Amino acid sequence: MGHASSQGNPCVLVTGGAGFIGSHTTVELLEKGYQAVVVDNLSNSSEKVFERIRQIVGDKADKLSFYQADVADRAALDAIFDENPITHVIHFAGLKAVGESVSKPIEYYANNLGTTMNLLEVMRSHACKSIIFSSSSTVYGDPDELPLTELSPKKNATNPYGWTKWMIEQILSDVCVADPEFNVVLLRYFNPIGAHPSGLIGEDPKGIPNNLVPYVAQVAVGKRDCVHVFGNDYPTSDGTGVRDYIHVMDLAQGHVAALEWMDGKTGCEIFNLGTGTGSSVLEIITAFSEACGQELPYQIDPRRDGDIAENYANCDKAEQEMGWKAQFDISDMCRDSWNWQSHNPSGYEG
Ligand code: NAD
Ligand code: WQD
Repeated sequence: MGHASSQGNPCVLVTGGAGFIGSHTTVELLEKGYQAVVVDNLSNSSEKVFERIRQIVGDKADKLSFYQADVADRAALDAIFDENPITHVIHFAGLKAVGESVSKPIEYYANNLGTTMNLLEVMRSHACKSIIFSSSSTVYGDPDELPLTELSPKKNATNPYGWTKWMIEQILSDVCVADPEFNVVLLRYFNPIGAHPSGLIGEDPKGIPNNLVPYVAQVAVGKRDCVHVFGNDYPTSDGTGVRDYIHVMDLAQGHVAALEWMDGKTGCEIFNLGTGTGSSVLEIITAFSEACGQELPYQIDPRRDGDIAENYANCDKAEQEMGWKAQFDISDMCRDSWNWQSHNPSGYEG
């Protein structure tokens, strides 16, 4: 794919734009008239996602371009900035498997920090000073109080993945101190699930899914026998872990809202992106069973190391400042996850 046609629309570099959240955000950007320049090394994604994005957005796909490159590659990134009038960056690229990060800390620090440092250097040399970063509720650790607001304390991370999010937040806020023209939005996602309502794009994990909903979806489609519930002795309503699940389409719209909000501003701002409602593991299994029309089998297993009992967000700041609020509930999320999974049982390669 060549470089994006310049037609006066703001041009956004989307690192990791072939991945789960990046692909849905790219669709939203194109639908809103932005030019989207995606850079992704396809280490955890498939180029086939772009055919699907084209199907969804139709003619607006002429404002999409894709570069298969590593964000840590200085020459490649310089060329992308030379060829495209990039004004903003949304930085999704990174490794994200919590358990794997414990066994491969060097790879996680090298990739997540290396991509970010290279990106910042190239942005500086091209006078691009606006960036939205994919952070995570993981920076809050095991909370003392719920719901979590942006003022809740950051806690020590419990794994290298979490530390990379923690450190990159710090790096970006330091860059804003050093350069008063710099503009950073840190978006702390809670638990993204769901898929585009078309069923054309969705989450396509490689191997055994680490996260709950992709695992449940594979049980529903017959690829796995039963859901393993990690502990039912937490101090929660039914003893299973509670999380704030958010539809990936709401999340995608949150990025567009942040882009509009940050226009003309400087400094570093943090927003939680969640729904404000917690759901237990058993509630998710029930909602997914309703979505797919069959009772899904599960068994109770021991707790998973490093898991917390409960977290959910207060998202008032995003609503008050950016006018953004999540629209979809758990049944919408499970319906759309199922729609994607049932039409693409083996993901993009199926
Ligand atoms: P994903 O793995 O589907 O997408 C990440 C993309 O980045 C992949 O397409 C991968 O190929 C690409 N990538 C990785 N390293 C790269 C590199 N060095 N150069 C170029 N491309 C590279 O993950 P996702 O779920 O879409 O997550 C996107 C971002 O959001 C990540 O930074 C993740 O840590 C963060 N996040 C995710 C969640 C979640 O639960 N999914 C929650 C909070 C934060
Ligand atoms: C959700 C709940 C599990 C799988 C992780 C990262 C976090 C963020 C989102 C990136 C928990 C339970 C899970 C299973 C289960 N990612 N569970 N059986 O752990 O809240 O968050 O992804 O930033 O940083 O830590 O998400 O989907 O793995 O788990 O019972 O097979 O489901 O114990 O209560 P988690 P998850």
